[in-house]
Amino acid sequence: MIDLAGKHIVLGLSGGIACYKAAELCRSLIKQGATVQVVMTEAAEQFITAVTLQALSGRPVFTSQWDARTSGGVDNNMPHINLSREADAILIAPASADFMAKLLHGRADDLLSLMCLARPLDKVPLILAPAMNREMWAHPATQRNVEQLRADGTMVLDVGAGDQACGETGDGRMLEPEELQYELVRFFTPKVLAGQHVLISAGPTYEAIDPVRGITNLSSGKMGFAIARAAHEAGAHVTLVAGPVALPTPRGVGRINVKSALNMQKSLHLLAQTATVFISAAAVADWRPAVPASQKIKKDGSGQPPAMAFVENPDILAEIASGARARSGLLYCVGFAAESQDLLAQAQKKRERKGVPLLVGNIGPDTFGQDENALLLVDAQGSTDLPRADKLHLARQLVAEIARRLPA
Ligand code: CTP
Repeated sequence: MIDLAGKHIVLGLSGGIACYKAAELCRSLIKQGATVQVVMTEAAEQFITAVTLQALSGRPVFTSQWDARTSGGVDNNMPHINLSREADAILIAPASADFMAKLLHGRADDLLSLMCLARPLDKVPLILAPAMNREMWAHPATQRNVEQLRADGTMVLDVGAGDQACGETGDGRMLEPEELQYELVRFFTPKVLAGQHVLISAGPTYEAIDPVRGITNLSSGKMGFAIARAAHEAGAHVTLVAGPVALPTPRGVGRINVKSALNMQKSLHLLAQTATVFISAAAVADWRPAVPASQKIKKDGSGQPPAMAFVENPDILAEIASGARARSGLLYCVGFAAESQDLLAQAQKKRERKGVPLLVGNIGPDTFGQDENALLLVDAQGSTDLPRADKLHLARQLVAEIARRLPA
């Protein structure tokens, strides 16, 4: 998916070893459809060359306020004005401790700081990706500066933790290029779910037969995880209750791992008490073995399979939806329906049966494990088709559809 099409990003580099990550970042922003103008400080040039960044961005790199080349299509020898005026956002990655201290005081003795100071505050957002040694990051001076920069309207991103170039371990690593790219995409996403706490169930459940075997469903969890990401991009506080899947947790999303339908039921009921939207994307196993064996069931030599009794699992969505109606609709519930045929009729029936305002139908065998899907949204008014597309694309459309339906 092209997530940053039409966006013009000024990528600023101040001095720090994390400059090596800026090259990858520049490349990935361009892959996402953005145009990138790189501006570097003298200190940044100690870590990476302008040649590398010019090659990756396809544009000359600016490093000096005295650079007389045409900038932003203008020949007035004022790159600090021209470069900032055309930006949809300025992202400083890495933002060193020294550079942040400088910004805080409104100092402007090099092109990058001068450009940041000269940017139109109301039109050009400034985003900082700090990178420094853990002691420098934890220092009260730095923390004070971060707080003040935020109060001045600058978006200061968090830092990563782990091994640092100096050999120490702790907080202060610059976020990885893909995390920074995610933050930019999120920044540009309309916050249609601001103030909402969205609870999402995803993936299959696993019902143990004995310690080595169980029954489960064909579900990769990809759709639910994509919805979690899209809801977070849209400004929601998101909690994901995931069955056994190996997918990475979307950035900024809280995750609780569960195994069986009963585990999932317990977590969801608890979280539903504070959620404002519940999206039930999990493929909950309909039945579980009545009494799972505590030891591995052995073949008894008769050639006959062991007798096995099953009981039905609780319908978690129907339970939560009925609780939500009792709370006078404070929780908006969305169900899914995985069908193999007659999608519209089945989805309409399931919506009524589960007692939810919105039900999202899909043809299971056409989507299980794949990166694409097609959705049919069914509510009291009728149905809406979301044609086959990448799951993240569909998740973003679904989030917009849910936001439109939320009570004011
Ligand atoms: N669901 C649930 N608890 C269950 C079964 C399903 O919460 N025990 C939820 C799913 O997360 C989904 C919706 O109910 O949002 C429909 O799930 P689906 O498997 O399509 O339908 P079932 O209720 O299992 O009905 P059927 O097997 O008859 O199609």
